[in-house]
Amino acid sequence: MAMSGKKLVLIGGGGHCKSVLDAAVRSGCFSEIVITDHSIPAGNTILGCKVAGNDELLPELFAEGFKYAFVTIGSIRSTDKRRAVFLKAKKAGFLFPAIIDPSAAAAASALIAPGVFIGKNAVVNADAVIGDMAIINTGAIVEHDCRIGTFAHISVGAAVCGGAEIERDVFVGANATVIQGVRIGMNSIIGAGSIICRDVPENCTVTGVFHGGGVNDTLNYLSFSYESIHAYRYFKLAGRYAV
Ligand SMILES: CC(C)(COP(=O)(O)OP(=O)(O)OC[C@H]1O[C@@H](n2cnc3c(N)ncnc32)[C@H](O)[C@@H]1OP(=O)(O)O)[C@@H](O)C(=O)NCCC(=O)NCCS
Repeated sequence: MAMSGKKLVLIGGGGHCKSVLDAAVRSGCFSEIVITDHSIPAGNTILGCKVAGNDELLPELFAEGFKYAFVTIGSIRSTDKRRAVFLKAKKAGFLFPAIIDPSAAAAASALIAPGVFIGKNAVVNADAVIGDMAIINTGAIVEHDCRIGTFAHISVGAAVCGGAEIERDVFVGANATVIQGVRIGMNSIIGAGSIICRDVPENCTVTGVFHGGGVNDTLNYLSFSYESIHAYRYFKLAGRYAV
């Protein structure tokens, strides 16, 4: 259904922008879409949409009637850039829609926060909660009752099984599997193709098959600190899913 009058700015003109732009156009929700980027010259086009200038233009675009913005900078190692740009656009007054590709399937009972992207053929099942600014990328599966934290990125083809908790700023790599009920601590990175069978502390990078208790589990950490393990033991849920 076309929603005339909704004008959208996409912030960041790279590869992730193309995925979001295609979904936004096909959703039929926006009457006009422009892009800001710090390195693509103004006047260029991406999939037929104009690059208006760089981020400095955001207040001007807002004044021109672009009330909606979406951060289309991707994230793998760090969400810092996405967060900084989000705060800048928020300060300028923009609202952040959720953009859901028409081919994605989201359960009626799922809660999907502002600024979330759900890509082609992704699935978000019953009673899942997707926090602000999270990315559920192409073909990813977020099963029933999962909690996905703010700014988390569930990459292409990854599967997050029922009731798993992915805290804020976590990156789950392509085709990784997080089994049911497992919690991934904030800021952690799960390598592509990994299989995660037990909780991962915060601020870790984990690859391979990660299962209970053995020496090999420690070897699978590319980086972790005893401090973060310690903090994890005393971790409190409050605040972990808020912006
Ligand atoms: C986990 C990851 C972030 C690590 O990157 P990195 O810190 O640059 O690590 P390196 O590439 O230097 O690899 C370090 C070691 O880990 C291994 N390794 C890296 N990623 C791995 C993975 N996903 N599974 C198993 N082993 C992996 C490397 O082979 C290397 O082993 P070696 O020391 O024996 O040579 C990265 O490899 C990864 O999986 N990124 C996700 C990509 C992705 O999903 N993209 C989708 C975007 S939508």
